[in-house]
Amino acid sequence: MCHKTLVTGWVQQGHMGHALIFDSGVGGLSVAAEIRKRLPSLQMSYVADDIFRPYGEKTESQLKARLPGLLWELSEAINPDIIVIACNTASTTALKEIRAAVDIPVIGVVPAIKPAAAASRTKTIAVLGTPGTVQRRYVDDLINDFADDCHVILQGSVNLVDIAEKKLAGKPVDSEWIKTELAPMFSGRHGADIDAVVLACTHFPLLRKELKSSVPQSVQWIDSGPAIARRVESVLKNLTLKPPRSGPDMALLVGGETSPERINAFKKYGFERVVALMP
Ligand code: DGL
Repeated sequence: MCHKTLVTGWVQQGHMGHALIFDSGVGGLSVAAEIRKRLPSLQMSYVADDIFRPYGEKTESQLKARLPGLLWELSEAINPDIIVIACNTASTTALKEIRAAVDIPVIGVVPAIKPAAAASRTKTIAVLGTPGTVQRRYVDDLINDFADDCHVILQGSVNLVDIAEKKLAGKPVDSEWIKTELAPMFSGRHGADIDAVVLACTHFPLLRKELKSSVPQSVQWIDSGPAIARRVESVLKNLTLKPPRSGPDMALLVGGETSPERINAFKKYGFERVVALMP
């Protein structure tokens, strides 16, 4: 007895799906890079909500008021298979509300507190995020659930977000700025014991090299990009995919800066078409 399987259309062509990557700026590129590494033929669209950045300085109610409606509109206009909220601040604040607003799977970024606690030998870790993220209940719960044997130092920085934006816009980054941002973490009472830092803002892996060279000790810098990429793969496996979109991967910059250097940065990450949206 012979069983036949008829494979047609985009399944046959190896189409893996289409993900919408969302952040307040260039930070989501650190997540997009991990997703591309794992799923090279996934189609991606990117939206940078530049006009409302920095999210890390917005209140919970401002973000909850903006994000569900915005993601609904984007999902209607772009028609992806899944949405990746490649932003810790948005994910730790409004993931539930975004999920309720759209009818496709939404994957959020969870600060990598669990792997950092597991990797730490000194049991002293730091969580470096935006001022918003490090104050969220979501982060407290992660610490209680996965790092209750650790001393956890929380630090919020909005300047590092701006420095990452500058770097990707081709502007010089002064290592003294980074040192100044990290000083409270490492020069405090438990600072010398820190051996793992959670990069709890997607902008920060874009500064990994600069962060590494600005600290006085050897530290593991842990972000959740690779875990998000694995999650995207497993969610897509169980979805009935929409037909592929035509044209290259595209980035939409909402009211943002569109210098040639910034546009090139998006291109370097595989978003060949970069479009400025002026609301
Ligand atoms: N990239 C974002 C995050 O992961 C936020 C940056 C901002 O403050 O807008 O939190």
